[in-house]
Amino acid sequence: MRLLAVETSCDDSAVALLDEQGNALAELVYTQSVHGGHGGVVPEIASRLHMTVLPGLIREVLERSGTSLDSIDVFAATAGPGLTGSLLVGLSWTKAAAFALEKPFLGINHLSAHLHIHHNSSVEFPAVALLASGGHTMIFHMTSWQKCVLLGTTRDDAAGEAFDKTAKLMGLGYPGGRIIDELAEKGDSESIPLPHPLGNKRLPEFSFSGLKTAVRLVWEKGGVSEKDLSASFRKTVCDLLVSKTMYQAGKLNARSVLVAGGVSANSLLRSAFQLEGEKRNINIFLPPSKHAMDNAVMVGRAALSALEADPSARSSASCNAFSRWHGKMLSPLSC
Ligand code: KG4
Ligand code: ZN
Repeated sequence: MRLLAVETSCDDSAVALLDEQGNALAELVYTQSVHGGHGGVVPEIASRLHMTVLPGLIREVLERSGTSLDSIDVFAATAGPGLTGSLLVGLSWTKAAAFALEKPFLGINHLSAHLHIHHNSSVEFPAVALLASGGHTMIFHMTSWQKCVLLGTTRDDAAGEAFDKTAKLMGLGYPGGRIIDELAEKGDSESIPLPHPLGNKRLPEFSFSGLKTAVRLVWEKGGVSEKDLSASFRKTVCDLLVSKTMYQAGKLNARSVLVAGGVSANSLLRSAFQLEGEKRNINIFLPPSKHAMDNAVMVGRAALSALEADPSARSSASCNAFSRWHGKMLSPLSC
């Protein structure tokens, strides 16, 4: 079985060809670096670049894996949440290909896809999952891949957004997560006291906008180094993410903790989760850094998970792009 997966929810165009075990036979990600010059993603530029880049990426993935388009058995694409214009590019291409070749099409939820990067690992349930990306910060309780319940989310900014805005404030560039992470390695995380908004670990909700303001006030006052401020900020965000996730894991007797989304590439977050997992004897699942960020392998694995639960799972040709996800139960299939 060959599954072609496409992801265009934001500023990464990604394509992957998977076998039925979820192994990537070939995958490519094109990251739109042009947005760096604008200090954030410009939606119209993102959509146009997806249109320019996507057909070539698909051709290249098929060539690399020695597969022809008409031998694909299943097509999957992210339907949302994300930037509507960007989503429509990947979604329309994939629906059209599936329709023309009379093959099944599955419209995938981007949030569920991030968690499904771990689908071909030995995850045991019950599990608690943290999704921390540029657009989302959420904790889920999972009793199976299909039964995933939202415990809490952020009341304002997402964790990745807080990294990006803090980097922008210090004039470090975009996206800022990786830059702050690298600077923080050389700084003193205890040097600048910062608030821990909604710091009660029992509350599975987050708030990062007050922290962002606190960083701005410290920065504007002057006299602090970028390295120390980066280190103090990174430590504060990681403490909040790790303590709240691990509290829920303990409370719900989780056998596994899944971490996903761009922020899961953060080096301190990774080591802090690993340490907590060892202390409490809970398996921690961290994606390889390239699969923390948006990619199409996770979309393909979410589609395989939906088919595993129901081999007749399909999305209709009217499956449309959507910008936000409102709900409690998260499913891989979005329409
Ligand atoms: O999952 P992702 O690729 O896209 C969304 O769905 O949002 O996540 C991108 C986010 C950006 O905010 C970026 O700054 C952040 O992930 N990020 C990091 C690191 N690498 C990427 N944040 C903290 N530390 C990192 N090393
Ligand atoms: Zn994402």
